[in-house]
Amino acid sequence: MSDDPLPPPSPNPASGRTTARTAAVIPAAGRGVRLGPGAPKALRALGGTPMLIHAVRAMAASRAVSLVVVVAPPDGAPEVKSLLDAHALPDRTDFLVVPGGESRQESVKLGLDALPPGYDIVLVHDAARPLVPVDTVDAVIEAVRDGAPAVVPALPLADTVKQVEPADVPGEPEPVVATPDRSLLRAVQTPQGFDRATLVRAHETVEDDVTDDASMVEQLGLTVVTVPGHEEAFKVTRPLDMVLAEAVLARRRLNDGF
Ligand code: C5P
Repeated sequence: MSDDPLPPPSPNPASGRTTARTAAVIPAAGRGVRLGPGAPKALRALGGTPMLIHAVRAMAASRAVSLVVVVAPPDGAPEVKSLLDAHALPDRTDFLVVPGGESRQESVKLGLDALPPGYDIVLVHDAARPLVPVDTVDAVIEAVRDGAPAVVPALPLADTVKQVEPADVPGEPEPVVATPDRSLLRAVQTPQGFDRATLVRAHETVEDDVTDDASMVEQLGLTVVTVPGHEEAFKVTRPLDMVLAEAVLARRRLNDGF
């Protein structure tokens, strides 16, 4: 009999398994109203290629990701399937397309429901963050493998943030009620990474409206941790973000050329 002490129990089933397989779910069913009139946001072109294809490639760029599930607009799954077929994507990655729902939360849940067994780590990545670098994706996966049930890429804030009493009419002055200490705040990005069982439980349990998946895990009472985010993982929301995204792509092309 060995005197070796037993290893401490893993905080989540995905931890410690260097072989744990990773899938990425990309919610891409939003209409992107804030970007102005036109096609659904994920299907708009950046550098001549749909934003969604950039986001899919960003996930598939990680050697750890072996499946990407794209959640398409509810009536747009066939169109998204043809889009994936029409663009070069890595052979080592599998792709699935499922129709999405009314809210981001519902869309992510539909993507999770479509995941086959055998994937212990799940990334959730907004199609609206097409330019996230692969190092950020890998850092998130690594932190889940190291035992965190939920991981978010995060950046310090440049702006001071005020809490207000929202006005009934947009544009009217709003009373400021608090100024949170900026040094304690972070802006979080995607991909957010999860132990799969934890994320599934969060989606089955939490019914409140949320704007990211990690907050559902927080509501289960579990600790979510951050890893450093990246300025190129910004969300394309408003027209000016398209200008910035085009500039980042142009800079990448220039750097690749040398
Ligand atoms: O609206 P917001 O910018 O928070 O959307 C973030 C991501 O969630 C986008 O990639 C969008 O396509 C997706 N989404 C979705 N289903 C919805 C609404 C948003 O997949 N019903």
